[in-house]
Amino acid sequence: MKVCVLGAAGGIGQPLSLLLKLQLPAGSELSLYDVAPFTPGVAVDLSHIPTDVCVTGYVGDDAEAAMKDADIVVIPAGVPRKPGMTRDDLFNVNAGIVKKLIGTGAKVCPNACFAIVTNPVNSTVPIAAEVLNAAGVYDKRKLFGVTTLDVIRSITFVAQTAGKSVDEVKVDVIGGHSGVTILPLLSSVDGVNLSQSEIEALTPRIQEAGTEVVEAKAGAGSATLSMAQAAARFTMSLVSAMNGDSVTECCYVQVGDDTRAFHAQPVVLGKDGVESIPPLPALSDYEQQLLDEMRETLEGNINKGIEFAND
Ligand code: 2OP
Repeated sequence: MKVCVLGAAGGIGQPLSLLLKLQLPAGSELSLYDVAPFTPGVAVDLSHIPTDVCVTGYVGDDAEAAMKDADIVVIPAGVPRKPGMTRDDLFNVNAGIVKKLIGTGAKVCPNACFAIVTNPVNSTVPIAAEVLNAAGVYDKRKLFGVTTLDVIRSITFVAQTAGKSVDEVKVDVIGGHSGVTILPLLSSVDGVNLSQSEIEALTPRIQEAGTEVVEAKAGAGSATLSMAQAAARFTMSLVSAMNGDSVTECCYVQVGDDTRAFHAQPVVLGKDGVESIPPLPALSDYEQQLLDEMRETLEGNINKGIEFAND
């Protein structure tokens, strides 16, 4: 299994690469790429950790050598938010980065699974789909927006509220990965009965949890460590699935045949990526209302990505 991290020297990329060096199965190759000149040094640093995962580092304008024949490409490359910014404010810089990197992937690892962390995820994933499609190699089963951070935040906050261990709590989060498009399904958490007022307090907290980190970091960026853990969890689920296990994770994928219909929801992963997408669980009236209200925002984010890709 060759796993490639693009943006590996950044705030998310470094801890993500560390987690993958520690967790990937023996015999895996971890290929690190970034434009930062010290990227080969990050690879050397990690290579001294005694696990049977071979780490290589690449730098320069072109990610081709790093991505060649990768099975999984994880992309946290890009700029983070500063206080007062929404994820959409990152569009102008990050959209171009994703377009270029996916264009390279379409040439040198067209069969890879691509897991996109770069914000705004609601738009960068449709950009990637368009680029892969234009190259004739788009497989909707193999393109993912990583929304796992919304899931792990939900687990943490729900466990705190309910006085449970995090190990006992499982939460599905649907929609997208930005503000009102993040919809945690708190009415149907197994073994936890939250009151409607708890749900109405937790939902906006989960939706704005990224902003909580951005403000606390006071200009030094957004979530990096929790995002790295989230991306590592998603990557390891993908690795297990590609090795034959059936694993379910919430993530942002194309649902159905419409290439504009991207949506986060529980997805069953298998050896070729998305194996199946079960119907959404039953929603409470409150959740259904939030789902209806987010549609316009999500569609706007998706269309913005598609227009950029085809410009
Ligand atoms: C967050 O939710 C960085 O988008 C990421 O904090």
